[in-house]
Amino acid sequence: MTRQVDFDHHSALCTEDPVAYYESFREGCPVGRTTAHGGYVYTTRYADVVRVARDDATFSSSRAAAGRDRVAIVIPSGPGLEQYPIELDPPDSTGYRDLINPLLTPDAVERLRPMIARHATRVVDAFVELGSADFVRDLTNPLPAAVTLDWLGFPEEDWAPLAGPIHDIFAAPADSDRARRGAEGLVHMERRIRELVRLRREEPADDAVSFLVARRRPDGEPFGEDELVSVIGLLIAGGVDTTTSLTGSVLVHLSRNPDQRRRLIESPDLLDTATEEFLRAFAPSQSMARTALADAEVGGCPVRAGERVLIPWVAANHDPAVFPDPAEIRLDRDATRHLSFGIGTHRCAGAHLARAMFREMITQVLTRLPDFRVLEEGLVAYPTRGNQSGWDAIPAVFTPGPRRGTPSSSGAPAAFQQAVPFDVVITAAEAVADGVLALTLAAPDGEALPAWAPGAHLEFRLPSGRIRQYSLCGDPEDRASYRVAVLREDGGRGGSAELHDLARAGVTVTVKGPRNHFPLVSAEDYLFLAGGIGITPILAMVRAAARDGAPLRAVYGGRSRSSMAFGDELVEHAGEHAELLPQDEHGLPDLDAVLGSAGPGTAIYCCGPAGMIEAVERACARLGVGDRLHIERFAAGDDLEVAFDPAGNTAFDVHLARSGRTVRVREDQRIIEAVREAVPGLSYDCEKGYCGACETRVLAGTPEHRDSLLTPEERESGRTMMICVGRSTSPRLVLDL
Ligand code: HEM
Ligand code: FES
Repeated sequence: MTRQVDFDHHSALCTEDPVAYYESFREGCPVGRTTAHGGYVYTTRYADVVRVARDDATFSSSRAAAGRDRVAIVIPSGPGLEQYPIELDPPDSTGYRDLINPLLTPDAVERLRPMIARHATRVVDAFVELGSADFVRDLTNPLPAAVTLDWLGFPEEDWAPLAGPIHDIFAAPADSDRARRGAEGLVHMERRIRELVRLRREEPADDAVSFLVARRRPDGEPFGEDELVSVIGLLIAGGVDTTTSLTGSVLVHLSRNPDQRRRLIESPDLLDTATEEFLRAFAPSQSMARTALADAEVGGCPVRAGERVLIPWVAANHDPAVFPDPAEIRLDRDATRHLSFGIGTHRCAGAHLARAMFREMITQVLTRLPDFRVLEEGLVAYPTRGNQSGWDAIPAVFTPGPRRGTPSSSGAPAAFQQAVPFDVVITAAEAVADGVLALTLAAPDGEALPAWAPGAHLEFRLPSGRIRQYSLCGDPEDRASYRVAVLREDGGRGGSAELHDLARAGVTVTVKGPRNHFPLVSAEDYLFLAGGIGITPILAMVRAAARDGAPLRAVYGGRSRSSMAFGDELVEHAGEHAELLPQDEHGLPDLDAVLGSAGPGTAIYCCGPAGMIEAVERACARLGVGDRLHIERFAAGDDLEVAFDPAGNTAFDVHLARSGRTVRVREDQRIIEAVREAVPGLSYDCEKGYCGACETRVLAGTPEHRDSLLTPEERESGRTMMICVGRSTSPRLVLDL
């Protein structure tokens, strides 16, 4: 039975504290039926939200299913131009999604970074000398608007008039004059989009609208003007206020939590990881909705055909079954499973662009007005947070700073530098243990290298096109050089062997980063566990902790003494607190005894081979200290290479039904790598099999599933798969690509 419950996601109680509101229902009645807003069934658990959002055959996004000509993907339904593909179901939505995907791939967004940095610099320049600003009016609204509209090809005079209405619609009460003005603004927006589409059909330029008007359907026909207007309208609506909301929420949070602000300033490389945690916590789009096309069941409760179903992303993001201590915002939490970008066919197409704009704004604030203080008494929140959360005014004060003008490459903010590959010269390549080569790297012009903190890795772009990541193991205070250590893995996919073969003094290599997914938290004391080449990030951490005078213990195991790099350096930093345990002399360490020495304030860091990490995780769970364990799972510093074990794989062919091409997927390749070249607009995000962005229909052949998203029935049916991790057990797979 689905219980009738007094529930309303637009109620004052929910607006006051949505997380607590959903929690109170998740515990007592996780799925229920309410009469609010014409009646709907609500969900609160991660698993139920995923189930509804992914099952688009049963739960529709279309207006027609809801029986009215109003936007049906939110409750209550609203007015507005019908937007493709978000308001369609597959297969109708697929063509429009394929149309926009190539514009928003990670590579395409990377090419936009200089433009994003230029706009951010200009926008911050306009207020940085004043010492005060309203972050919404002056930064978080104008920047995403300028970037989105410039990218699409709208001239500067359109940026403010087009951005305003969308923000007004989200920020103003539904029946207010301001909301009405917003709706009128949308009519103007539609006219301007139509004019630009016509112009670009005649005079193509180097912008996204020119790309869209030139694209063809699979049957060779161009897209109609109304279709393009709809898609472009969605790109504007999707791109502007969502990113505004995220950035505003984070600025308010950082003003209230100076420790976290300081940590981000000191370790800018932590921003990538923190971005996902902020998205999880603040979910700009708090909830969406679907309409049941047939009688169904969600979380054990029946849903009738025609009923509306609320899928609150924010509730899923705070489900303790998936995110322990969900109310806590932890900058180093791995929050990548959050649903703030949705999940399933409609998962946000602009996620990479949103992250890039957000990081640029936060980086500019943290580097240019680091002491900003939000004036709490002047904060104005959206009137309801049922569908969209955010701030309408964020007044702030700060120490005035200088304008920057057009950013030069050397003056570019850190986030920009981290995103753009750059060349370094190998100044030394030295064997430091059996099969381990330590490389010292410097900038070709001898300039300072981007800053990093212990736990960070550097991404190498090898001449073959392989991308490999290695932890930095030198001294972060030495800004003139980086050091990494590479274990030659002859059974691997060739990245480490390629780097070993080319590495000698004087050779130039291209790198990107540094980035940090394994940051060192401040703690009373530390227990470091390193296995084999997993010593690399641990060495940098031990050096930093010892330098700070923090009590520590470092236990380092390896096959034999000669295979263990940097043992002497570890002893140099940790003295008698370093324990070197070669397996051929000491056997395997007694993990229970080692972990038993951890006190209540000890942070435990572990990096090493997968088997060791699993053993440490099990022991920590047994001893009840799992919440203090920080792990770097991929000891060789190359997550894709190590996560992907080619042993036991077989090669197979993938036939791409739409283009008629066939590509070979080697044993040591993933499907997504093999087909990316042939299908340039491929959608993907996590590349680990859990976000659903790369889900692809299988038309023939037997997929071998390696994701953590598909249900047992979906696996069994073999009709869909995640091509970032999945393979094939048949010699040939035919994909709907
Ligand atoms: C932090 C910022 C953003 C958030 C939180 C966000 C959130 C979402 C969510 C939850 C969906 C799923 C809708 C559903 O399941 O019905 C979605 C879809 C979409 N978003 Fe975003 N979005 C953001 C930024 C952007 C940007 C910058 C763009 C593009 C310029 C964009 C374009 C789209 C499009 C086109 C879709 C529809 C995809 C489809 O129907 O296949 N979004 N977004
Ligand atoms: S890219 Fe996330 S599941 Fe494949």
